[in-house]
Amino acid sequence: MSHITDTGAGKVTAPAIRARKGGSPIVALTAYDYPTARLVDEAGLDIILVGDSLAQTALGYETTLPVTVEEMLAATRAVKRGTRRALVVADMPFGSYQGRPDRAVKTAIRFVKDAGAEAVKIEGGAARADVIRAIAGSEVPIIGHIGLTPQSYLRMGGYRVQGKSMDGARELIEDALAVERAGAFAIVLEGIPTEISRIITERVSIPTIGIGAGVHCDGQILVFTDLVGLTFGHKAKFVREYADLKGVIAGALARYSEDVGSRRFPSDRESYRLPEGVEIEPELEHPESMPPLGPIN
Ligand code: KIV
Repeated sequence: MSHITDTGAGKVTAPAIRARKGGSPIVALTAYDYPTARLVDEAGLDIILVGDSLAQTALGYETTLPVTVEEMLAATRAVKRGTRRALVVADMPFGSYQGRPDRAVKTAIRFVKDAGAEAVKIEGGAARADVIRAIAGSEVPIIGHIGLTPQSYLRMGGYRVQGKSMDGARELIEDALAVERAGAFAIVLEGIPTEISRIITERVSIPTIGIGAGVHCDGQILVFTDLVGLTFGHKAKFVREYADLKGVIAGALARYSEDVGSRRFPSDRESYRLPEGVEIEPELEHPESMPPLGPIN
């Protein structure tokens, strides 16, 4: 038996991401299912995050708070099936790691064993250092996430850019250092002034991956549906829409409706035909000419 796993040429690993500190920018994006994972992977992006933003983007919840471990596991399995090269990272949902490091480790291991995740991500800084240490110590690579952490929606009283005061900035720098010391191999910086994320990026030795955190981070991440124009409702300032899929899909649906209504769909080419030589028997066309059926028991 060989203990050497062939991860394939160019397979992205957690140590490979760690080694990109200060190097070429890390390109990360969320995905929630098989087709989007395939598209992201085939485009050559480095990290696919099965984000708990799935709650809003795919399940229609108002916040990320209700999404469950089971829902995140199902999405992670689908993403994993669609991914060959990118690093697959599973977001641990609200309530699955806060409080008890031993329970957090069990959940992190489920994401690896049952769903094929190659790393997990949790939200929180110094307050979650014990959880990060426990997960990293159980051989599961882990990414931290500080700043505007959507799972803190209730405590923050909404989605607010963090670190705008010098006290807030100091706290964020402390959080980043705590996440690094606890053993995370990268850290997401979300909703942080550019100046402060530059300082954090200079102070930590692990890569920073920004979302609404300016250009100085070691990489960037966006939400798939934001990037392709499939998000309903509020669009954050930091989102750049690279496509208008909502418009494309609406146009396709309108044309489909018209074509069905006017019998332009399906065409002959889109229909099956009886094989050559098979004739329709007259009684199939004219059932009234068939002998009556016997009683039905
Ligand atoms: O859930 C998510 O999509 C995220 C990213 C925004 C970093 O956590």
